[in-house]
Amino acid sequence: MSSCSPKTKEVFQNLKAADLQEYPDPNATELKNAIANRFGISPEMITPSSGTDELIDTLPRLLLSKGDRAVIIRPTFFRFGEATSREGGEIIKVDTNLENHFRFDESTARQVIEQSRQPKTDIVWLCNPNNPTGQIISSELLKWVISEAKAFVIVDEVFSGLLDPTSTNKTLELAKTHQNVLFLRSLSKVDGLSAIRIGWGIGHPKTIELIEKWRLPFNTSTLAQKIAIAALEDTQHTADVRNLIINERQFLEQQISLIPGLELISGSQANIFLLRHKQKDLFQQLFQRGILVADFRQADGLEDMGFVRITVQDNNKNLKLLKALQRI
Ligand SMILES: Cc1ncc(COP(=O)(O)O)c(C=O)c1O
Repeated sequence: MSSCSPKTKEVFQNLKAADLQEYPDPNATELKNAIANRFGISPEMITPSSGTDELIDTLPRLLLSKGDRAVIIRPTFFRFGEATSREGGEIIKVDTNLENHFRFDESTARQVIEQSRQPKTDIVWLCNPNNPTGQIISSELLKWVISEAKAFVIVDEVFSGLLDPTSTNKTLELAKTHQNVLFLRSLSKVDGLSAIRIGWGIGHPKTIELIEKWRLPFNTSTLAQKIAIAALEDTQHTADVRNLIINERQFLEQQISLIPGLELISGSQANIFLLRHKQKDLFQQLFQRGILVADFRQADGLEDMGFVRITVQDNNKNLKLLKALQRI
């Protein structure tokens, strides 16, 4: 569904052997400029990474010592906890709840701020929109947390591709005034380029200066940089894909709501959402019908609730999923 820009294929086809011989630009200047142009920020606010995965791994190494605390809102992307534990960090859990469709509300924000003010708390992990729920954090609550937290706030926005770029770009403005925040973005999701491993962090120039000191000089390859630049410049393609996926998500959610027995976590603003069956094991039921979905039955914060995560695909695949769901 998230097919990459045709402009990226042109780059690939026009590659010459000589392009493969030189080391990449260690400052990734052209890549930073392309990111800066796309998001209306300055290149000094950007640190490129080998997928956001690299930053998720590096940041706890920079920020945490053994026994330090990191706040995680559950359920969320498992890598935050994994990267924290690897550094010997203590995970502080703030739970969202099923009755509220796992929304990040005012009470969640208040708990996060309170926890961030406890001694030895160095990181707050946020995911916006959240994986696996697709729920967003409103710009007001995000601003509140970043302004009031006494810890470094990492805002993973890898799934922000379906949101209105005008409003998400406005949120990035917070990095101009706050040094305790880093926004993570990536070409892996809506832009359909997970294979080239291009992500980046957006932060205050002083924050970026520190992170850049720890970045490997060649963490993004020449080839990946060239492809990424072509994708970043093709804003029309991203807009087209965004509209297609939003339409498909609405279609899928509306059709699912007509099928008895299914319960969908509504409100997703991403290309993913949680789904379960009220009586049956949905993962097994779909598996038996030849459809493999992401298994969240024992995910942290969702234990024994029976959820699977659905990813919105192209119309053919969505129809295949719907057919299987109707037969359960
Ligand atoms: C919430 C979230 N953040 C980060 C990543 C890592 O993405 P990348 O390909 O940019 O490393 C993923 C991958 O699935 C993800 O779901």
